[in-house]
Amino acid sequence: MKDQLIVFDTTMRDGEQSPGAAMTRDEKVRIAKQLERLRVDVIEAGFAASSPGDFEAIRAVAAAVRESTICSLARANDNDVKRAGEAIKGAQSGRIHTFIATSPIHMQHKLRMSPEAVLEAAVRSVKLARQYTDDVEFSAEDAVRSDVDFLCRIFEAAIAAGARTINVPDTVGYSTPELWGALFKSLLSRVPNADRAVWSTHCHNDLGMAVANSLAAVMAGARQVECTINGLGERAGNAALEEIVMAVRTRSDFFDCTTRIDATQIVPTSKLVSTITGYPVQPNKAVVGANAFAHESGIHQDGVLKHRETYEIMRAADVGWGANRLTLGKLSGRSAFKSRLQELGIALASEEQLNAAFARFKELADKKREIFDEDIQALMSDETVTPEAERYKLVSLTAHSETGEQPFARVVMSDGGRELRAEARGGGPVDATFRAIESIVQSGTDLQLYSVNNVTEGTDSQGEVTVRLAKDARIVNGMGSDTDIVVASAKAYINALNKMGAKAERVNPQYGEAQAI
Ligand code: KIV
Ligand code: ZN
Repeated sequence: MKDQLIVFDTTMRDGEQSPGAAMTRDEKVRIAKQLERLRVDVIEAGFAASSPGDFEAIRAVAAAVRESTICSLARANDNDVKRAGEAIKGAQSGRIHTFIATSPIHMQHKLRMSPEAVLEAAVRSVKLARQYTDDVEFSAEDAVRSDVDFLCRIFEAAIAAGARTINVPDTVGYSTPELWGALFKSLLSRVPNADRAVWSTHCHNDLGMAVANSLAAVMAGARQVECTINGLGERAGNAALEEIVMAVRTRSDFFDCTTRIDATQIVPTSKLVSTITGYPVQPNKAVVGANAFAHESGIHQDGVLKHRETYEIMRAADVGWGANRLTLGKLSGRSAFKSRLQELGIALASEEQLNAAFARFKELADKKREIFDEDIQALMSDETVTPEAERYKLVSLTAHSETGEQPFARVVMSDGGRELRAEARGGGPVDATFRAIESIVQSGTDLQLYSVNNVTEGTDSQGEVTVRLAKDARIVNGMGSDTDIVVASAKAYINALNKMGAKAERVNPQYGEAQAI
């Protein structure tokens, strides 16, 4: 019997720390339901003390998910641990993940605490967390640059205080596979009570080695991997869940452990996270990139045709490619639509919202013969701000482009119910549309990213547009989808403007001043 490798997904916490990737409560519930379908063991749903919104999101996820453990992050202080404990109260199985930095550079410059005070704070927070749940995880932030003797002391003390999981983070993506494996070997042999905890690895990807480092830790005895869908996360991101899971599965001859993951849910999960966060997946990304199995659909390699395994080490269908479910069509009724939304974990607050969503679905079904789950996810992602925060709405759009003519757009939008219109010319119809919108709102924002992806295959697919706007150190991603990509672009721009207006301040757990005890 192989050991079980616990898959701890932190897309909704560490992943959410990526610029503009903040998720609303309802978006988190949708992702959590999909992670549950993927059979992730632990879902880190957020950082409860960061904002009332995040607290509520964790509570909602804890209520919605039954098959995965729901976890909240907490700095090593009483308030954070209490907020985390309250947020996970409704979970079938709940975990508190408390952490404090242990490297000299962090202790001295960020925390301004002595090593003894850090150790005391760690023990105190683990003990307090145990009053809320038996399932407590302790992390030593920036373990990679910490003194190994000190790590041994603090981990031993955390286990003695009741931590069941010990997480060792490469917070800054600095390690290499050999070094990371050696650190785990050393910790596992030197910490006297190491056998009373599950050892966990958490790697960032600054040097592109997050997955390799995580797997080296697994080889050295780690039995939990912390990772994110599509490798989303701070800076260059975290270790990608799909790569770790498929490496362990594909090379089962080499790895002495297995996961519970239902790999056929990998691609649908990747698409959902990309849609909700507005972070597109690069085409050559392992496992979930559009080209990952490209020879199968197009450039038919001679070898693959003769014998698939000449070039393929995994099957596209095994990770969920081509699994998009044809769910609804033009003739589907309101109740079929409602039950599909429920199955996808999409909750609508009122009958009015359901009616409006159903009307949009019917509009889409008129334009597009077959409606897949991805279409419904994209359709519902236009609703990423709460209705009260939705100040601007697109009323109508006319765009004209003709060879030899300068493209033109006329936009009618409402600002809190008041209708406003503008016209503009631009380099292309999208540029003209954005100029027309800007002449109405004069937001003063800086457009940092514009990208278009097709939601499903074929030229009748919806285009899904991401627009990233920045202003005064705030970054937001707006999303819009439509079979007409100019309309999708206008929706995405307006969505970003609405998000920019909705105040959603949250604290980043890893930045800032000393963590008061
Ligand atoms: O990278 C890191 O150190 C973290 C900790 C909070 C676990 O994300
Ligand atoms: Zn991290």
